[in-house]
Amino acid sequence: MRVASTDNPLSVVVLISGSGTNLQAIIDYIREQELPIEIRAVISNNPDAYGLKRATEAGIPIEVVNHRDYQSREYFDQALRAVIDQYKPELIVLAGFMRILTDDFVRHYQGRMINIHPSLLPRYQGLNTHQRVLEAGDEQHGVSVHFVTPELDGGPVIIQASIPVRKDDTPQSLAERIHEQEYIIYPLVIQWFAEGRLQLRDDTVLFNGKPITDSQRQFRV
Ligand code: GAR
Repeated sequence: MRVASTDNPLSVVVLISGSGTNLQAIIDYIREQELPIEIRAVISNNPDAYGLKRATEAGIPIEVVNHRDYQSREYFDQALRAVIDQYKPELIVLAGFMRILTDDFVRHYQGRMINIHPSLLPRYQGLNTHQRVLEAGDEQHGVSVHFVTPELDGGPVIIQASIPVRKDDTPQSLAERIHEQEYIIYPLVIQWFAEGRLQLRDDTVLFNGKPITDSQRQFRV
């Protein structure tokens, strides 16, 4: 794994579908910490995604690959891949990108594509995680960052942050507290990647060259 430097920063492409608050947190963290990470493009499947405005304001090139313009998932993924690869990213960051990707696409980027998902994976893969946590009466909720593999929300977990579920919580209040954790852990994982500390070997996450331990995976402030 190479270690990014100011002369040779880590090249990143971020994929979004919506408001892009995670994207904003990543942009801000890279700037504040002066990290050798270059977001070369922000790509959205949704032309109206507010995150595109955030990218433009930050001086980052934007691209739209609208899934509605393609007859099938395969065609959409081929077009998306062609746009991503123009930027030669070393890391692809899915930040609220709400499309299911084909196996071919995922395999092409395996080990260099990460996702953030609002649950303590492997629990609650898929949508509406906050509502499902409340319905199940769980006492803990959380968020996971994981390498992307063909299984939806099923790739090896890099880090998780937990929050307690309160009696008066709503999906909205949970989403807000989960977001606060997301803005901390996602930029951190990208920093680790730039530092050459993270790798995927088969189905195992290596942290500093060794299989990541359960305690390393649990984020604590
Ligand atoms: C985030 O909460 C992220 O965890 C979730 O979408 C939100 C995007 O917010 N991702 C998923 O549900 C992926 N399965 P943002 O656009 O404000 O960053």
